[in-house]
Amino acid sequence: MKATISKRGFLQAVGAAVGVGAVYRSMQALGLVSTEVAHEVWADLPRGSGEGKSVAILGAGIAGMTAAYELSKAGYRCTILEAADRAGGRNLTARAGDVVGEVDGRQRVNFSEGDHLYANLGPARIPYHHGTILGYCKEFGVGLEVFTNDNRAALFHNRERFDGRPVSARRVITDIRGYIAELLAKAVDGTSLDSALTVEDKERLLQMLVQYGDLNADHLYKGTKRGGYRDGRLNAGLKAGELDDPLDFSDLLKSDFWEYKLHFDDFLDQNPTLLQPVGGMDTIAKAFEERVGSFVRYRSVVEEIRKSPKGVRIVYRSGLGGAVGTLDADFAICSIPAPVLKDIQNDFAPETKAAIESVAFAPAIKIAFQTRRRFWEEDHAIYGGISWTDQDITQIWYPPYGYHRDNGVIVGAYVWNKDIGLRFEGMSPEERLRVAIEEGERVHPGYAGEIEAGVSRAWGKVPFQKGAWPTGKEAPAALQRPDGAIYFAGDQASALPGWQEGAALAAHAAVAAINERVMGK
Ligand code: ALA
Repeated sequence: MKATISKRGFLQAVGAAVGVGAVYRSMQALGLVSTEVAHEVWADLPRGSGEGKSVAILGAGIAGMTAAYELSKAGYRCTILEAADRAGGRNLTARAGDVVGEVDGRQRVNFSEGDHLYANLGPARIPYHHGTILGYCKEFGVGLEVFTNDNRAALFHNRERFDGRPVSARRVITDIRGYIAELLAKAVDGTSLDSALTVEDKERLLQMLVQYGDLNADHLYKGTKRGGYRDGRLNAGLKAGELDDPLDFSDLLKSDFWEYKLHFDDFLDQNPTLLQPVGGMDTIAKAFEERVGSFVRYRSVVEEIRKSPKGVRIVYRSGLGGAVGTLDADFAICSIPAPVLKDIQNDFAPETKAAIESVAFAPAIKIAFQTRRRFWEEDHAIYGGISWTDQDITQIWYPPYGYHRDNGVIVGAYVWNKDIGLRFEGMSPEERLRVAIEEGERVHPGYAGEIEAGVSRAWGKVPFQKGAWPTGKEAPAALQRPDGAIYFAGDQASALPGWQEGAALAAHAAVAAINERVMGK
């Protein structure tokens, strides 16, 4: 009789023989996982494979908790040392009554109580293709809703252009497209593209440009109702009225609108559809904490990371009393951010030390305001999305939740530029709010009168973080391989810096590598 093997049995056999990376690749080959979404490694470790082995996990952020979750399911004994008194790391949602600390002070969040009155001061959006973190949301029952980057009613503001008045994204995008279509149509109508295109393709391209830019019969761009109507009217209503004049092309070219803002949503990680957990990003951290919180030793500040005959020895200072503790384990997974890690005594190899030193983190800033009414919806028909300004605040985010409620929380500044970040970082919390309100006033006249409370976060001054995310595109190779029995995780060990997906993927890679070592592969 011909022997048969089920897909599941086959995968288990592959897993036992060659490890989880191979299982994942086999699953891809069998068409069981999409190659477009999940990547790198699948961390579904064989049950019981870690029995008798211990892992010290440094940091209870998304990476550390992902690692603990996957390892503990496989039987590993996990201990997480977390310096702060909470889990989540940079995943932080601020609500009424919370206290957020920086190295030199604390701010109380003076928002009102309300399920729509929160600010995600760390990660705030999840791209549709971040399958690992979305997979955990699904597994843990974390409800998701759409997060909006791109809103055509939101504003572009440059102090030097259009008399310093903000203009709608709708007009900027349709007018730039119209002008470019017109210019290209001129080139097609003339002879300059004759060698590049066949006669038929020229004709098709012309037809495309007419539709793409909404050109008139003479292939000229004279404005379009895509941009809306005069006096800011958006809706044709009973009588269509007059089209808005196109924005001046030269002013558009002189503005900074096209310097990545115009194509921001084309960046792969900013493409719609983006998602957010209902009720705050920390819903994800809390879901992990429910599952691995019993392994966490909070307020445990790592002071030494040592290689030992057993594997690793971690020396840490614990609790308010400051007692010193040691933790011996077969392996460690270190997700402590590089700017903090570089100052911890260690036995790392010179190339590991150099790699850690080389990772710089962005001094990103977020400022959130509670407003007395949702003026962006009531006055501008802006439902979610982002306005841009050339001022230091850089962006204003409108909440893609709580629509039509009485009040709301907006992001009044989101900064990742180093110089601007350091400027805000150097200000007191009160000064940050004052500057953000003053600048917001130029985007939304009357802004100051709408604001009831505010909170800021300068990630460069957050204890045990010292920055928001690694600024390099690639993780140093030395953070993607073990140094003795010490493995690295966190977004700093991935090619997705600044994303929870990177943190989770790096954790998967570390747990898979540990497991392969334990299984003798
Ligand atoms: N992932 C971060 C963002 O989307 C950096 O702003």
